[in-house]
Amino acid sequence: PIPVILDVDTGFDDALALLLALRAPQLEVLGITCVVGNQRLPQVVTNTLKILDVAEAPEIPVAAGMTLPLLEPLRMPMLLHGRDGMADLGLPPSSRRPVEVHAVEFLRQALAAASRPVTLIALAPLTNIAVFLRMYPELHSRVGQLMIMGGTYAAAGNTTPLAEFNIRHDPEAAAVVLASGLPIRLYTLDVFRRVAIRRKEIEQFIAQPDPVAQVAGRILRHSCDYFRSDRALIGDAGAVAAVIEPEGVQGEQLPITVELGGTISRGQTAVDRRPPESRARLREWCEPAPAEVDVIHTVDAARYRALF
Ligand code: BDR
Ligand code: CA
Repeated sequence: PIPVILDVDTGFDDALALLLALRAPQLEVLGITCVVGNQRLPQVVTNTLKILDVAEAPEIPVAAGMTLPLLEPLRMPMLLHGRDGMADLGLPPSSRRPVEVHAVEFLRQALAAASRPVTLIALAPLTNIAVFLRMYPELHSRVGQLMIMGGTYAAAGNTTPLAEFNIRHDPEAAAVVLASGLPIRLYTLDVFRRVAIRRKEIEQFIAQPDPVAQVAGRILRHSCDYFRSDRALIGDAGAVAAVIEPEGVQGEQLPITVELGGTISRGQTAVDRRPPESRARLREWCEPAPAEVDVIHTVDAARYRALF
């Protein structure tokens, strides 16, 4: 199996992503790092531990990380995720505890100890990952791939008209990570919005005896109810699917910059979609040249729905 570490802000769709990763025989979850985002950090950790219980997971280390973005102020938790950030399911408290070390230190230890390069799956603001990359450049080569849910290719934003939440929550961290030169795949909002489960299927999940299916179903039902929709997105779980079955998505290696100025545009991922000739001809207008990452713009939604 592929060794992975998930960085999360659980988060109802982070919960779906964790359940998928924990159940996927193709992945070996080495650990989970938590960061402020959808909820304040203590609640993110609590939610994550509860999800490990639901999955009856073995002792997988969970590390608490950054409690604030690098520059931005702390913001109110996102209401759509419920008061507890995870659909208010009333899951019982967990007796699991997070590890003693900070998430950034956990990443250092885990990557240094791994026998092969590790895939990082970042489903939250990139604060933990940015601090880790800045502190331990000697460990960059231990990251086999960095799959990030974040940003947009051509779609509108979801937090501002132009910016996606994970990037907008900590634009400076995103800028550090996207410019790092690591092998990054960006699972953008364009594809995030495409993979959904219908209410009828959701009710079938809930009717199953398997607690993982039930909890996934109840989270999805919360989303249907909140948005008054007959379908619910699997959200962050799509980025996990893109690690399990990479053939289900398509992207392009493209220059990308995180807008750090602006008001409305702050946190936008400006993807250079111009033809390469005009990009080259007008190079002086984009100095210094932005880093390139694999920006995912197309997804086989039916395939990922079936996988999920
Ligand atoms: C991202 O923001 C969060 O609310 C979700 O968990 C997802 O990671 C989507 O913009
Ligand atoms: Ca998330």
